[in-house]
Amino acid sequence: MILKKYKKSIAEYLDVDANQISLYWRGRVGLYCILKALDIQPGDEVILPAFTCVVVPSAIKYLGAAPIYTSIDPTTYNIDVHQIENKITAKTKIILAQNTFGLSSDLDPILEIANKYNLKVIEDCAHGFGGSYKGRKNGTSATAAFFSSQWNKPFSTGIGGIVLWNEKESLHKINALEKQLSSPTFKDEQMLALQIFIRKNILTPSIYWNALKLYRWASQKGLISGSSDAGELDSAKMPSGYLKTGAKIQAKVGLNKIGSFQSNLEHRKKLASLYSEAFKQLNISPVFQPDYAVHTFTKYPFLVKNQIQFLELAQKNNIPLGDWMNSPIHPIQDNYHLWDLAIKYFPLETKIGKHIINLPTDTSISEEEAFRIINFLKRNKSFLISNWQDI
Ligand SMILES: Cc1ncc(COP(=O)(O)O)c(C=O)c1O
Repeated sequence: MILKKYKKSIAEYLDVDANQISLYWRGRVGLYCILKALDIQPGDEVILPAFTCVVVPSAIKYLGAAPIYTSIDPTTYNIDVHQIENKITAKTKIILAQNTFGLSSDLDPILEIANKYNLKVIEDCAHGFGGSYKGRKNGTSATAAFFSSQWNKPFSTGIGGIVLWNEKESLHKINALEKQLSSPTFKDEQMLALQIFIRKNILTPSIYWNALKLYRWASQKGLISGSSDAGELDSAKMPSGYLKTGAKIQAKVGLNKIGSFQSNLEHRKKLASLYSEAFKQLNISPVFQPDYAVHTFTKYPFLVKNQIQFLELAQKNNIPLGDWMNSPIHPIQDNYHLWDLAIKYFPLETKIGKHIINLPTDTSISEEEAFRIINFLKRNKSFLISNWQDI
């Protein structure tokens, strides 16, 4: 059966047993199932970085638990390890360690804190499939991890979620949960297959901005499976049809892509090194690459003085830029209280969100296209901010 074969190929890539892998319609469903399998109850607290995607606190809140937002280190965009202990209470159960833009959190000190207070660590590897921490593959160090194979991720099956469970004694719980979920419907499978076809055959960088507008409109209308389903951005209530396992079409696409995944990562590294070199020439801090991790460069972030104007300029020049993490709970811009976020305590994360832009690194961007993007940056260098202290 194709899903079993897909699990085996992911397990081989991660050097783990196939029964440690379970598959979901999206990464967020994987996170929800991990929390459930860890027996998270109403009132329990989950520590997470205040620089994430809104679907992360949503998954926590669907279980009645509380997201406890924590400041980030602005050089890594990951949780500030020194802030974690201040957030621990008698109700804390989990620390979520995110791989923002593909860079692993500094896991060893986080695991040490978790050990000291008897907490579990979950790795949010939504951006980090293929990266590593101190030679350990992302996802293999904590109790459990989830990966996203959504559009724009280094390993994409249209949309999709993969869970890696590392704690042997509780493995049966996640596997039992996966069995309880329903499979995607025939229509889900067909719609996703159509979207994958369109993206592969029709979408090129030259129509990026028009395609993005159409994509956002269609996903808000619930016509396609976009970054978020209709309703997910309006409240922290679980949308109908949320709890689904992996689809056959995801397995088929994933099996086709796993063989070329390493060269995809090399391409991203190559483009990232071109961007870093250009930023250094412009006296702008390049993306921080600590010794402890191998970055996947799912996106290449930098800061600008005026995000809206810069994106407009990019659109006019047909430069495919993005604004991932435009808020502490991307892409939410108001009603933060619905996700229990007291925004006033996170001025730095909010500011970074308002100034961040990201460059593409995916295989649709040739080196020639990367140089066109670099020339655009050079022509508009007056917009660039040299580092986060200057925001
Ligand atoms: C940091 C982070 N975690 C989790 C997710 C959820 O992944 P998915 O879209 O596969 O549900 C995302 C989505 O992009 C994300 O950015």
